[in-house]
Amino acid sequence: MKLSVIGTGYVGLVTGTCFSDLGNDVTCIDVNQAKVDGLKKGIIPIYEPGLSELVLRNYEEGRLKFTTKASEAVPEADVVYIAVGTPQSDTGAADLSAVWKVVEDIAPHLKEDALVVVKSTVPVGTNAKVFSQLKELTGRECNVASNPEFLKEGSAIDDFMYPDRVVCGVRNKKSEDMLRQLHAPLLRTAKPILFMSPESSELTKYAANAMLATKISFINEIANLSEKVGADINDVRVGMGHDQRIGFQFLFPGLGYGGSCFPKDVRALTSLSETLDLEPRIMRAVDDVNVHQRASLVRKIDAYYGGKIAGKTFGIWGLAFKPKTDDIREAPALDLLQYLVEKEAKILVHDPEAMENVQAMFGDKIHKYCENVMDAVEGVDCLAINTEWNEYRTPDFAQLKTKMKEKVIFDGRNLFDLEDMEKTGFSYFSIGRRSLECG
Ligand code: UDX
Repeated sequence: MKLSVIGTGYVGLVTGTCFSDLGNDVTCIDVNQAKVDGLKKGIIPIYEPGLSELVLRNYEEGRLKFTTKASEAVPEADVVYIAVGTPQSDTGAADLSAVWKVVEDIAPHLKEDALVVVKSTVPVGTNAKVFSQLKELTGRECNVASNPEFLKEGSAIDDFMYPDRVVCGVRNKKSEDMLRQLHAPLLRTAKPILFMSPESSELTKYAANAMLATKISFINEIANLSEKVGADINDVRVGMGHDQRIGFQFLFPGLGYGGSCFPKDVRALTSLSETLDLEPRIMRAVDDVNVHQRASLVRKIDAYYGGKIAGKTFGIWGLAFKPKTDDIREAPALDLLQYLVEKEAKILVHDPEAMENVQAMFGDKIHKYCENVMDAVEGVDCLAINTEWNEYRTPDFAQLKTKMKEKVIFDGRNLFDLEDMEKTGFSYFSIGRRSLECG
């Protein structure tokens, strides 16, 4: 099939590239000329394992094209994906201005029987508005479907190619048939393609993300309780997870969820419910717990030093909101950096991918951006860990001891075993477990 994908952000670029890899003729459209020029050379503006190679290969083989002009590709397209950003606005609701701009841009070029698919995460009712807007602009009833995306940063290509399910909101049989045909290569392993109303599919996306966020806030609340009552959250987590009704996934305690999806989607769902005169009590609590949890290391560090941080040197491992991404949106590390900067601490940081993004935000307020993990602990008063990158999981503690001035570790991701840590002689503070304080 011939596809146009509008928006070469995370979702659009992965969608377009993967569909081209499956043999479709895909044109990705973005208003940003510099971005389009870069993409033609395989330069992708984000870090996503395997994506650059896939872009380049499909571009060179002619299945994937890039342009800034809707008029160059949309007239030919059987399917037009809308995959532009829907950031959080001041009220917490999703800002849909980019979606409406795309609707205006594509309307004059759409083929009579083209299928427009809303891929962006949008509030319930957006599909219906796109439908009526297109009717107004084209004078006819266009096919408009919804197909929310469930991919995770860091494993986006695999998530796209091997989905647990594909969710489609459709208005007619023709749209259903086209989406079934397009997704057939992804569903060979008996994973379902689910057809439902556009409203149900829009709500499914928000509800799935909100459920996962709820699991995280729930386990973080239990972790905080564990600390107070002398329980170990890791034992509690495993004890809970073996109940098959609960399971193990998304029950890791830590510094709360970050990134571009969970915080924004929980707030958008809250805002949607409020505009409909409902009381989204669970969603408000999930967000509230998360905002509090993000600052866990700040609170532990502040308590340990009695607020006297000025002049101390902090080594920071991990800046991205999670491993395998350079994304620092809503990353808990930012809360810690902000606090340390305000308190006039000296800061050394390491992250395998996210240092450039942090440098753009903090510049020389951070004293050293270290390429090497061990350089970030040279002479420090303590080490604070924000992200569970694999390279932090098994450090040489003997070497750490010789490098660090004081043997103190604050671990926001519970990377190390408590009994092992007891033998190292470090003071060690983690989440939902007892603290080890060595004199
Ligand atoms: C998420 C959804 O998983 C995906 O389906 C949706 O399309 C977009 O949002 P993503 O934001 O890339 O994907 O990251 P994910 O791996 O889901 O992690 C989100 C956050 O939750 C991270 O900050 C992570 O550290 C945190 N998390 C995750 C926990 O704190 N504990 C867990 O057990 C799991």
